[in-house]
Amino acid sequence: MDAIKWNGDSVTLLDQRLLPLKEVYNTYTNYSDIAAAITNMETRGAPAIGIAAGMGIALAAQGIGTGDIVKFRDEMSRIFGIFAATRPTAVNLFWTIDRMKKITHELTDVKQLKETLKKEAVRIHEEDIAANRQMGKNGSRFLNDGDIVMTHCNAGALATGGYGTALGVIRAAVEEGKKIEVFACETRPYLQGARLTTWELYRDNIPVTLITDNMSGHFMKTGVIKKIIVGADRIARNGDTANKIGTYTHSVLAKEHGIPFLVAAPMSTLDPDTATGNDIVIEQRSTDEVAFVQNVQIAPEGIKILNPSFDVTPAANISAIITEKGIIEKPEGRGIMGLF
Ligand code: MRU
Repeated sequence: MDAIKWNGDSVTLLDQRLLPLKEVYNTYTNYSDIAAAITNMETRGAPAIGIAAGMGIALAAQGIGTGDIVKFRDEMSRIFGIFAATRPTAVNLFWTIDRMKKITHELTDVKQLKETLKKEAVRIHEEDIAANRQMGKNGSRFLNDGDIVMTHCNAGALATGGYGTALGVIRAAVEEGKKIEVFACETRPYLQGARLTTWELYRDNIPVTLITDNMSGHFMKTGVIKKIIVGADRIARNGDTANKIGTYTHSVLAKEHGIPFLVAAPMSTLDPDTATGNDIVIEQRSTDEVAFVQNVQIAPEGIKILNPSFDVTPAANISAIITEKGIIEKPEGRGIMGLF
């Protein structure tokens, strides 16, 4: 299963809105369709958003008719703006855009620029897969044979170039022969845990049990959950971590019960330019995602609803941040700069 695939002159995306009931792949040649696919959650997860944007930008560049570098750069600025406006929280998107911008500013030959942007998009994808594998190797020592490990949202192959961040660490532990069982929180309102995490783990024969988000405290208190591992959308300089709404609640409960709370993320998710979690922009999504469950309305018409898509877990609640470059244990007071 390739959730994102570069075909040279088009991009194929697995439509994650339809999982687990339908496995549909859509192929796009137009960059604006790829930008829309990021906004509408056809593809999602911080690293996957960055990868899809890179491919979309590379495709857009191919379609620019002018050989004049000034006009080409003007058109590219407009395209960078379109991708930057898709989703605000995952920093991987802006990290990709910065990489593509750098190339656009450095090279002056339009033909060469177009080729280099294509190569960069492929490189961003390949680097992400390699980072996930290395993260898995670095982080698997935190998981013991027999552990039940809870995760929230989907930080797996679907959310990345492949293999996954949090689920990558779990996959690595399983590949080392450890018996691991995963508790997947359903992740209201968009149900990434129920729909996506269970789907990909089940396909890989990794034992997975679905629980609702409000069951996590019960299973921590009763000693069932031994570790928690999640992904991240943006990690601020001081280690505060934005991830899917509900992550913060689990982290508070983990602290109360002395359960290790691990964050796995590639270096592309670490954001040295953002000082603390208070500076992270939290995406507010449509209230229909809360008012409806799979197209069935569950709340009265016209009531007030809030739908922040992410929350921030303070560094103080995190036991370790696992990256491909190394691990920061107890990031509180230490932050992330030791990895740069
Ligand atoms: O809204 P989503 O589905 O894009 O949110 C995804 C998450 O919050 C993931 O946990 C995060 O991006 C890490 S994915 C490796």
